[in-house]
Amino acid sequence: MEQEIKETIVKKIDKKDIDELYRDGDIKEAAIIIKNGGLVAFPTETVYGLGANALMPEAAKKIYAAKGRPSDNPLIVHISKTEDVKDIANDIPELFYTLANKFWPGPMTVVLKKKSIIPDATSGGLDTVAIRLPESNIARALIEVAGVPIAAPSANTSGRPSPTKASHVFEDMNSKIEMIIDGGEVGIGVESTIVDLTENTATLLRPGAITLEMLRDVCGNVNIDPAIEHLLSTGEAPKAPGMKYKHYAPKADMKMLRGSESAVSDYLRSQITESDIDTAILTVDEHKSVLLQLINENKKDNIKLLSLGSIKDMSSIAHNLFDVLRKCDDLGVKNIISESFDESGIGRAVMNRLKKAAGFNIIDL
Ligand code: TXA
Ligand code: MG
Repeated sequence: MEQEIKETIVKKIDKKDIDELYRDGDIKEAAIIIKNGGLVAFPTETVYGLGANALMPEAAKKIYAAKGRPSDNPLIVHISKTEDVKDIANDIPELFYTLANKFWPGPMTVVLKKKSIIPDATSGGLDTVAIRLPESNIARALIEVAGVPIAAPSANTSGRPSPTKASHVFEDMNSKIEMIIDGGEVGIGVESTIVDLTENTATLLRPGAITLEMLRDVCGNVNIDPAIEHLLSTGEAPKAPGMKYKHYAPKADMKMLRGSESAVSDYLRSQITESDIDTAILTVDEHKSVLLQLINENKKDNIKLLSLGSIKDMSSIAHNLFDVLRKCDDLGVKNIISESFDESGIGRAVMNRLKKAAGFNIIDL
Protein backbone atom coordinates (compact mmCIF):
# COMPACT_ATOMS: atom_id res chain seq x y z
CA MET A 1 0.00 0.00 0.00
CA GLU A 2 1.07 3.59 -0.67
CA GLN A 3 2.45 5.45 2.29
CA GLU A 4 0.00 8.15 3.37
CA ILE A 5 1.21 11.75 2.99
CA LYS A 6 0.52 13.56 6.28
CA GLU A 7 1.26 17.18 5.44
CA THR A 8 2.30 18.67 2.12
CA ILE A 9 5.59 20.60 2.27
CA VAL A 10 5.34 24.15 0.88
CA LYS A 11 8.58 25.67 -0.48
CA LYS A 12 8.59 29.34 -1.32
CA ILE A 13 10.80 30.24 -4.27
CA ASP A 14 11.33 33.85 -5.32
CA LYS A 15 11.44 34.71 -9.01
CA LYS A 16 15.05 34.28 -10.09
CA ASP A 17 16.82 33.83 -13.38
CA ILE A 18 16.79 30.33 -14.70
CA ASP A 19 20.51 29.60 -14.19
CA GLU A 20 20.12 30.29 -10.48
CA LEU A 21 17.07 28.03 -10.35
CA TYR A 22 19.03 25.12 -11.87
CA ARG A 23 21.20 25.23 -8.72
CA ASP A 24 18.35 25.90 -6.27
CA GLY A 25 18.16 23.31 -3.45
CA ASP A 26 14.33 23.31 -3.35
CA ILE A 27 14.09 22.76 -7.11
CA LYS A 28 16.52 19.84 -6.76
CA GLU A 29 14.42 18.34 -3.98
CA ALA A 30 11.23 18.75 -6.03
CA ALA A 31 12.92 17.26 -9.11
CA ILE A 32 13.94 14.16 -7.13
CA ILE A 33 10.36 13.67 -5.88
CA ILE A 34 9.08 13.86 -9.48
CA LYS A 35 11.77 11.58 -10.88
CA ASN A 36 10.94 8.97 -8.23
CA GLY A 37 7.22 8.97 -9.02
CA GLY A 38 5.87 11.51 -6.48
CA LEU A 39 3.69 14.60 -6.99
CA VAL A 40 4.80 18.25 -6.85
CA ALA A 41 2.59 21.25 -7.62
CA PHE A 42 4.44 24.13 -9.29
CA PRO A 43 3.63 27.53 -10.80
CA THR A 44 3.48 28.16 -14.53
CA GLU A 45 2.61 31.47 -16.22
CA THR A 46 -1.00 30.27 -16.73
CA VAL A 47 -2.12 28.37 -13.59
CA TYR A 48 -0.46 26.07 -11.04
CA GLY A 49 0.21 22.55 -12.36
CA LEU A 50 0.21 19.23 -10.51
CA GLY A 51 3.36 17.56 -11.77
CA ALA A 52 4.39 13.92 -12.09
CA ASN A 53 6.91 11.97 -14.15
CA ALA A 54 5.11 11.71 -17.53
CA LEU A 55 6.93 8.47 -18.40
CA MET A 56 5.77 6.56 -15.29
CA PRO A 57 2.21 5.17 -15.46
CA GLU A 58 2.00 4.78 -11.66
CA ALA A 59 2.91 8.46 -11.21
CA ALA A 60 0.27 9.60 -13.72
CA LYS A 61 -2.29 7.45 -11.87
CA LYS A 62 -1.48 9.28 -8.63
CA ILE A 63 -2.46 12.56 -10.34
CA TYR A 64 -5.91 11.19 -11.20
CA ALA A 65 -6.33 9.99 -7.62
CA ALA A 66 -5.22 13.30 -6.03
CA LYS A 67 -7.52 15.34 -8.28
CA GLY A 68 -10.44 12.91 -8.34
CA ARG A 69 -10.15 13.23 -12.12
CA PRO A 70 -11.76 10.80 -14.61
CA SER A 71 -9.00 8.67 -16.11
CA ASP A 72 -10.16 9.30 -19.72
CA ASN A 73 -9.11 12.94 -19.38
CA PRO A 74 -5.49 13.10 -20.65
CA LEU A 75 -2.67 15.12 -19.08
CA ILE A 76 -0.54 17.82 -20.70
CA VAL A 77 3.15 16.85 -20.95
CA HIS A 78 5.51 19.72 -20.13
CA ILE A 79 8.99 19.93 -21.64
CA SER A 80 11.87 22.39 -21.24
CA LYS A 81 13.18 22.59 -24.84
CA THR A 82 11.41 22.53 -28.22
CA GLU A 83 13.70 19.75 -29.48
CA ASP A 84 12.35 17.42 -26.74
CA VAL A 85 9.12 17.15 -28.77
CA LYS A 86 10.91 14.67 -31.07
CA ASP A 87 11.32 12.23 -28.15
CA ILE A 88 7.59 12.03 -27.42
CA ALA A 89 5.74 12.82 -30.69
CA ASN A 90 5.53 11.36 -34.22
CA ASP A 91 4.53 12.89 -37.58
CA ILE A 92 5.47 16.41 -36.48
CA PRO A 93 4.19 18.84 -39.14
CA GLU A 94 6.10 21.92 -40.33
CA LEU A 95 3.30 24.03 -38.84
CA PHE A 96 4.34 22.83 -35.39
CA TYR A 97 7.77 24.43 -35.76
CA THR A 98 6.25 27.65 -37.07
CA LEU A 99 3.99 27.87 -34.03
CA ALA A 100 6.69 26.81 -31.56
CA ASN A 101 9.11 29.44 -32.95
CA LYS A 102 6.50 32.10 -32.45
CA PHE A 103 4.80 31.14 -29.17
CA TRP A 104 7.16 28.90 -27.14
CA PRO A 105 8.06 29.14 -24.38
CA GLY A 106 4.56 30.32 -23.57
CA PRO A 107 0.89 29.57 -22.90
CA MET A 108 0.30 27.29 -25.91
CA THR A 109 -0.21 23.51 -25.87
CA VAL A 110 -0.07 21.48 -29.08
CA VAL A 111 -1.64 18.07 -29.70
CA LEU A 112 0.46 15.70 -31.82
CA LYS A 113 0.59 11.95 -32.51
CA LYS A 114 2.33 10.30 -29.57
CA LYS A 115 5.31 7.99 -29.39
CA SER A 116 4.93 4.80 -27.36
CA ILE A 117 7.26 6.17 -24.65
CA ILE A 118 4.21 8.17 -23.44
CA PRO A 119 2.14 5.67 -21.46
CA ASP A 120 -1.64 5.34 -21.86
CA ALA A 121 -2.04 6.49 -18.27
CA THR A 122 -0.64 9.90 -19.31
CA SER A 123 -2.48 10.20 -22.64
CA GLY A 124 -5.81 8.93 -21.31
CA GLY A 125 -5.60 6.04 -23.77
CA LEU A 126 -5.47 8.37 -26.82
CA ASP A 127 -2.88 7.93 -29.59
CA THR A 128 -2.07 11.64 -29.31
CA VAL A 129 -0.24 13.70 -26.70
CA ALA A 130 -0.69 17.33 -25.60
CA ILE A 131 2.67 19.09 -25.17
CA ARG A 132 3.57 22.43 -23.65
CA LEU A 133 6.81 24.37 -23.13
CA PRO A 134 5.96 26.83 -20.35
CA GLU A 135 7.48 30.27 -20.04
CA SER A 136 7.76 30.21 -16.25
CA ASN A 137 11.42 29.91 -15.17
CA ILE A 138 10.47 27.81 -12.15
CA ALA A 139 8.52 25.36 -14.34
CA ARG A 140 11.29 25.05 -16.93
CA ALA A 141 14.02 24.66 -14.29
CA LEU A 142 12.01 21.93 -12.57
CA ILE A 143 11.52 19.98 -15.83
CA GLU A 144 15.17 20.39 -16.82
CA VAL A 145 16.54 19.31 -13.41
CA ALA A 146 14.08 16.38 -13.16
CA GLY A 147 15.41 15.23 -16.54
CA VAL A 148 12.02 13.81 -17.57
CA PRO A 149 8.94 15.36 -19.19
CA ILE A 150 6.41 16.37 -16.53
CA ALA A 151 2.73 15.51 -16.88
CA ALA A 152 0.75 18.29 -15.24
CA PRO A 153 -2.94 19.10 -15.20
CA SER A 154 -4.09 22.18 -13.31
CA ALA A 155 -3.49 21.56 -9.57
CA ASN A 156 -7.14 21.79 -8.46
CA THR A 157 -9.57 19.15 -7.32
CA SER A 158 -11.38 18.02 -10.48
CA GLY A 159 -14.32 20.34 -11.20
CA ARG A 160 -13.07 23.25 -9.06
CA PRO A 161 -11.61 26.46 -10.52
CA SER A 162 -7.94 26.16 -11.52
CA PRO A 163 -5.45 27.46 -8.93
CA THR A 164 -3.72 30.76 -9.55
CA LYS A 165 -2.07 31.00 -6.10
CA ALA A 166 -0.22 28.44 -3.96
CA SER A 167 -2.92 28.88 -1.28
CA HIS A 168 -5.55 27.59 -3.78
CA VAL A 169 -3.40 24.50 -4.35
CA PHE A 170 -2.98 23.96 -0.61
CA GLU A 171 -6.77 24.18 -0.15
CA ASP A 172 -7.33 21.36 -2.63
CA MET A 173 -4.17 19.23 -2.33
CA ASN A 174 -2.90 19.35 1.26
CA SER A 175 -1.92 15.86 2.46
CA LYS A 176 -2.52 14.43 -1.04
CA ILE A 177 0.80 15.43 -2.64
CA GLU A 178 4.42 15.61 -1.47
CA MET A 179 5.25 19.25 -2.21
CA ILE A 180 3.96 22.62 -3.41
CA ILE A 181 6.39 25.12 -4.88
CA ASP A 182 5.02 28.56 -4.03
CA GLY A 183 6.22 30.95 -6.72
CA GLY A 184 3.61 33.61 -5.95
CA GLU A 185 0.56 34.49 -7.98
CA VAL A 186 0.61 33.41 -11.63
CA GLY A 187 0.59 36.05 -14.37
CA ILE A 188 -2.07 35.01 -16.88
CA GLY A 189 -4.68 33.23 -14.78
CA VAL A 190 -6.39 31.05 -17.43
CA GLU A 191 -5.01 27.77 -18.77
CA SER A 192 -2.99 27.50 -21.98
CA THR A 193 -4.45 27.65 -25.47
CA ILE A 194 -4.71 24.11 -26.89
CA VAL A 195 -4.19 23.60 -30.64
CA ASP A 196 -4.65 20.23 -32.33
CA LEU A 197 -2.11 19.69 -35.13
CA THR A 198 -2.95 16.08 -35.96
CA GLU A 199 -5.00 16.97 -39.05
CA ASN A 200 -4.34 19.16 -42.08
CA THR A 201 -5.97 22.22 -40.56
CA ALA A 202 -5.12 23.36 -37.03
CA THR A 203 -8.06 23.21 -34.59
CA LEU A 204 -8.46 25.32 -31.48
CA LEU A 205 -9.52 22.98 -28.64
CA ARG A 206 -9.32 25.45 -25.73
CA PRO A 207 -8.92 29.25 -25.96
CA GLY A 208 -6.22 30.95 -23.88
CA ALA A 209 -3.77 33.85 -23.87
CA ILE A 210 -2.42 32.87 -27.30
CA THR A 211 -5.57 34.06 -28.99
CA LEU A 212 -7.43 32.75 -32.05
CA GLU A 213 -6.46 35.97 -33.84
CA MET A 214 -2.75 35.34 -33.07
CA LEU A 215 -3.02 31.73 -34.29
CA ARG A 216 -4.79 32.77 -37.51
CA ASP A 217 -2.05 35.33 -38.17
CA VAL A 218 0.47 32.49 -38.19
CA CYS A 219 -1.55 29.49 -39.52
CA GLY A 220 -4.08 31.15 -41.80
CA ASN A 221 -7.07 28.90 -41.34
CA VAL A 222 -7.86 27.61 -37.81
CA ASN A 223 -10.96 25.53 -37.00
CA ILE A 224 -12.76 25.90 -33.69
CA ASP A 225 -13.83 22.81 -31.74
CA PRO A 226 -17.61 23.03 -31.11
CA ALA A 227 -17.14 22.28 -27.38
CA ILE A 228 -15.76 25.82 -26.98
CA GLU A 229 -18.87 27.46 -28.33
CA HIS A 230 -21.83 25.61 -26.84
CA LEU A 231 -22.93 22.90 -24.48
CA LEU A 232 -22.52 19.61 -26.35
CA SER A 233 -25.61 17.51 -26.82
CA THR A 234 -25.54 13.77 -26.13
CA GLY A 235 -23.51 11.95 -28.75
CA GLU A 236 -21.23 14.94 -29.49
CA ALA A 237 -17.67 14.49 -28.19
CA PRO A 238 -15.11 17.28 -27.84
CA LYS A 239 -11.57 16.62 -29.10
CA ALA A 240 -10.14 17.69 -25.74
CA PRO A 241 -11.84 15.21 -23.40
CA GLY A 242 -11.59 17.66 -20.50
CA MET A 243 -13.85 20.16 -22.27
CA LYS A 244 -16.90 17.94 -21.75
CA TYR A 245 -16.82 18.08 -17.98
CA LYS A 246 -18.59 20.74 -15.97
CA HIS A 247 -15.56 22.65 -14.93
CA TYR A 248 -14.27 25.64 -13.03
CA ALA A 249 -17.59 25.26 -11.36
CA PRO A 250 -18.36 27.19 -8.20
CA LYS A 251 -20.69 25.54 -5.68
CA ALA A 252 -23.52 28.05 -6.29
CA ASP A 253 -25.91 28.13 -9.26
CA MET A 254 -24.42 30.47 -11.78
CA LYS A 255 -25.92 32.35 -14.69
CA MET A 256 -24.56 34.91 -17.13
CA LEU A 257 -26.22 38.02 -18.49
CA ARG A 258 -25.86 38.89 -22.15
CA GLY A 259 -27.27 42.05 -23.69
CA SER A 260 -26.84 45.82 -23.93
CA GLU A 261 -25.24 47.68 -21.02
CA SER A 262 -28.57 49.23 -20.07
CA ALA A 263 -30.46 45.89 -20.19
CA VAL A 264 -27.82 44.26 -17.96
CA SER A 265 -27.88 47.20 -15.59
CA ASP A 266 -31.73 47.06 -15.35
CA TYR A 267 -31.62 43.32 -14.65
CA LEU A 268 -29.02 43.75 -11.90
CA ARG A 269 -30.99 46.62 -10.41
CA SER A 270 -34.12 44.45 -10.13
CA GLN A 271 -32.12 41.54 -8.65
CA ILE A 272 -30.56 43.82 -6.03
CA THR A 273 -33.84 45.38 -5.00
CA GLU A 274 -36.01 42.24 -5.16
CA SER A 275 -33.93 39.14 -4.35
CA ASP A 276 -33.54 37.85 -0.78
CA ILE A 277 -31.27 34.98 -1.80
CA ASP A 278 -27.53 35.09 -0.95
CA THR A 279 -26.14 36.14 -4.30
CA ALA A 280 -22.76 37.16 -5.70
CA ILE A 281 -22.71 39.57 -8.63
CA LEU A 282 -19.57 39.34 -10.76
CA THR A 283 -19.05 42.74 -12.28
CA VAL A 284 -16.23 45.09 -13.35
CA ASP A 285 -14.47 48.01 -11.65
CA GLU A 286 -16.33 50.48 -13.86
CA HIS A 287 -19.80 49.29 -12.72
CA LYS A 288 -19.01 48.62 -9.09
CA SER A 289 -19.74 51.94 -7.38
CA VAL A 290 -23.25 52.37 -8.86
CA LEU A 291 -24.25 48.82 -7.87
CA LEU A 292 -22.72 49.18 -4.40
CA GLN A 293 -24.69 52.34 -3.80
CA LEU A 294 -27.89 50.51 -4.72
CA ILE A 295 -27.04 47.63 -2.38
CA ASN A 296 -26.36 50.04 0.49
CA GLU A 297 -29.47 52.14 -0.14
CA ASN A 298 -31.62 49.02 -0.06
CA LYS A 299 -29.67 47.47 2.87
CA LYS A 300 -29.23 44.23 0.94
CA ASP A 301 -26.40 42.44 2.74
CA ASN A 302 -27.44 39.23 0.99
CA ILE A 303 -25.94 40.64 -2.23
CA LYS A 304 -22.13 40.50 -2.54
CA LEU A 305 -20.36 42.43 -5.26
CA LEU A 306 -17.12 41.05 -6.71
CA SER A 307 -15.14 42.83 -9.40
CA LEU A 308 -13.38 40.70 -11.99
CA GLY A 309 -11.16 43.61 -13.09
CA SER A 310 -11.35 46.48 -15.53
CA ILE A 311 -13.48 46.27 -18.66
CA LYS A 312 -10.68 48.20 -20.42
CA ASP A 313 -8.18 45.43 -19.62
CA MET A 314 -9.44 41.92 -20.39
CA SER A 315 -6.11 40.48 -19.17
CA SER A 316 -6.94 41.73 -15.67
CA ILE A 317 -10.25 39.86 -15.86
CA ALA A 318 -8.49 36.66 -16.99
CA HIS A 319 -6.01 37.11 -14.14
CA ASN A 320 -8.68 37.43 -11.41
CA LEU A 321 -11.34 35.06 -12.76
CA PHE A 322 -10.58 31.81 -10.90
CA ASP A 323 -9.73 33.58 -7.64
CA VAL A 324 -13.11 35.33 -7.77
CA LEU A 325 -14.93 32.04 -8.47
CA ARG A 326 -13.19 30.48 -5.44
CA LYS A 327 -14.22 33.50 -3.33
CA CYS A 328 -17.85 32.78 -4.27
CA ASP A 329 -17.40 29.33 -2.70
CA ASP A 330 -15.88 30.89 0.44
CA LEU A 331 -18.79 33.34 0.73
CA GLY A 332 -21.22 30.42 0.58
CA VAL A 333 -23.65 32.23 -1.75
CA LYS A 334 -26.50 30.30 -3.40
CA ASN A 335 -26.55 32.21 -6.69
CA ILE A 336 -23.94 33.84 -8.89
CA ILE A 337 -24.83 36.31 -11.63
CA SER A 338 -22.03 37.36 -13.97
CA GLU A 339 -21.67 39.99 -16.62
CA SER A 340 -20.55 38.91 -20.13
CA PHE A 341 -17.62 40.16 -22.14
CA ASP A 342 -16.56 40.73 -25.71
CA GLU A 343 -15.18 37.47 -27.13
CA SER A 344 -12.26 38.92 -29.06
CA GLY A 345 -8.65 38.36 -27.95
CA ILE A 346 -8.30 36.85 -24.49
CA GLY A 347 -12.01 37.65 -24.01
CA ARG A 348 -12.74 34.35 -25.78
CA ALA A 349 -10.88 32.43 -23.05
CA VAL A 350 -12.59 34.42 -20.28
CA MET A 351 -16.05 33.82 -21.77
CA ASN A 352 -15.31 30.11 -22.33
CA ARG A 353 -14.39 29.63 -18.64
CA LEU A 354 -17.35 31.70 -17.43
CA LYS A 355 -19.79 29.80 -19.66
CA LYS A 356 -18.43 26.49 -18.44
CA ALA A 357 -18.66 27.62 -14.82
CA ALA A 358 -22.29 28.57 -15.51
CA GLY A 359 -23.00 25.30 -17.34
CA PHE A 360 -23.84 27.52 -20.38
CA ASN A 361 -26.74 29.03 -18.42
CA ILE A 362 -26.96 32.37 -20.27
CA ILE A 363 -29.81 34.86 -20.00
CA ASP A 364 -30.23 36.88 -23.19
CA LEU A 365 -31.65 40.27 -22.29
O1 TXA B 1 -2.04 26.04 -18.77
C1 TXA B 1 -2.18 24.82 -18.75
O2 TXA B 1 -2.35 24.16 -19.80
C2 TXA B 1 -2.13 24.11 -17.38
C3 TXA B 1 -0.69 24.26 -16.86
C4 TXA B 1 -0.47 23.48 -15.61
O3 TXA B 1 0.22 23.92 -17.86
N1 TXA B 1 -2.53 22.74 -17.51
C5 TXA B 1 -3.82 22.39 -17.72
O4 TXA B 1 -4.05 21.02 -17.74
O5 TXA B 1 -4.72 23.18 -17.88
P1 TXA B 1 -5.49 20.38 -17.58
O6 TXA B 1 -5.25 18.93 -17.40
O7 TXA B 1 -6.23 21.03 -16.52
O8 TXA B 1 -6.15 20.55 -18.95
C6 TXA B 1 -5.70 19.78 -20.03
C7 TXA B 1 -6.69 19.79 -21.15
C8 TXA B 1 -7.89 18.91 -20.89
O9 TXA B 1 -9.05 19.57 -21.37
C9 TXA B 1 -7.57 17.68 -21.69
O10 TXA B 1 -8.71 16.98 -22.10
C10 TXA B 1 -6.80 18.26 -22.87
O11 TXA B 1 -6.02 19.25 -22.29
N2 TXA B 1 -5.89 17.27 -23.51
C11 TXA B 1 -4.83 16.66 -22.96
N3 TXA B 1 -4.29 15.78 -23.82
C12 TXA B 1 -5.03 15.85 -24.95
C13 TXA B 1 -4.98 15.18 -26.22
N4 TXA B 1 -4.08 14.26 -26.48
N5 TXA B 1 -5.91 15.51 -27.13
C14 TXA B 1 -6.84 16.46 -26.87
N6 TXA B 1 -6.93 17.12 -25.70
C15 TXA B 1 -6.05 16.81 -24.75
MG1 MG C 1 -7.78 21.66 -15.42
